[in-house]
Amino acid sequence: MFVQQAIAILDSGVGGLTVAKEVMRQLPREKIIYFGDTARSPYGPRSPEEVTLFTEQIVDYLIQFNPKMIVIACNTATAAALEHIKKKVSIPVIGVIHPGARAAISATKTGRVGVIGTVGTINSGAYITALKELNPVIDVESEACPDFAPLVEKGQFETPEAQLVVEHSLQEMKQHPIDCLILGCTHYPFLKRSIQAVMGPKVKLISSADETAREISTVLYQKGQLARGNEIPIHQFFCSGDSEMFNKIARQWLGEQIELTPIVWQVS
Ligand code: SIN
Repeated sequence: MFVQQAIAILDSGVGGLTVAKEVMRQLPREKIIYFGDTARSPYGPRSPEEVTLFTEQIVDYLIQFNPKMIVIACNTATAAALEHIKKKVSIPVIGVIHPGARAAISATKTGRVGVIGTVGTINSGAYITALKELNPVIDVESEACPDFAPLVEKGQFETPEAQLVVEHSLQEMKQHPIDCLILGCTHYPFLKRSIQAVMGPKVKLISSADETAREISTVLYQKGQLARGNEIPIHQFFCSGDSEMFNKIARQWLGEQIELTPIVWQVS
């Protein structure tokens, strides 16, 4: 029997669903296997070594499904572990930082770009490196917003509390004359409405989800591995923590019921 090879997507929690949703939209024939490490989320405050270890454990888990590629749909894990994971497996592995940087370079008119992300992502300097690799004279302002991802994991992205947190966290970023703001954490598109309200209509918000899905499409096309046929793929979701909350957020974000399997990690 022919078994369609899936695209494996991983994140510290629900943030990677923003990438999964865009893959479903751009590549509707592709099957997705998603892992959200909700038991150990957020990754943002953890050390690069710990995030690399967690990412490696998830990749080891996902590899049993024989995926055709791995997408690290978490900025913190991309910054810490992308190069390590690329060396570890023999299938294509992509992260979300380069696609996000590319999208910002293409969108900015003034060459002044802002980046918000977790403490881990911002401290790594990965966005500045990626942006300057593409355009050395780009002007980058970056700031960590450590309260955003935990709010999203609690399903509180449309609440007055979320609005207050966003308002407070972006006070400084708002003062910079940027024309694009990279949402450098896959959880942040959940807060897009509040972020846009604070930054104002002249600042374009860049989510790496769209560009990451385009990169997946390019990689699979070049390798001759795009899914064919008319079968509707049945996606599989795994999460290591509160499955009720994951289910609720996934249903709300994706607009459909999902097939979710809770995982009990044997590791710390
Ligand atoms: C986090 O787990 O702290 C957020 C994940 C991300 O960086 O996208």
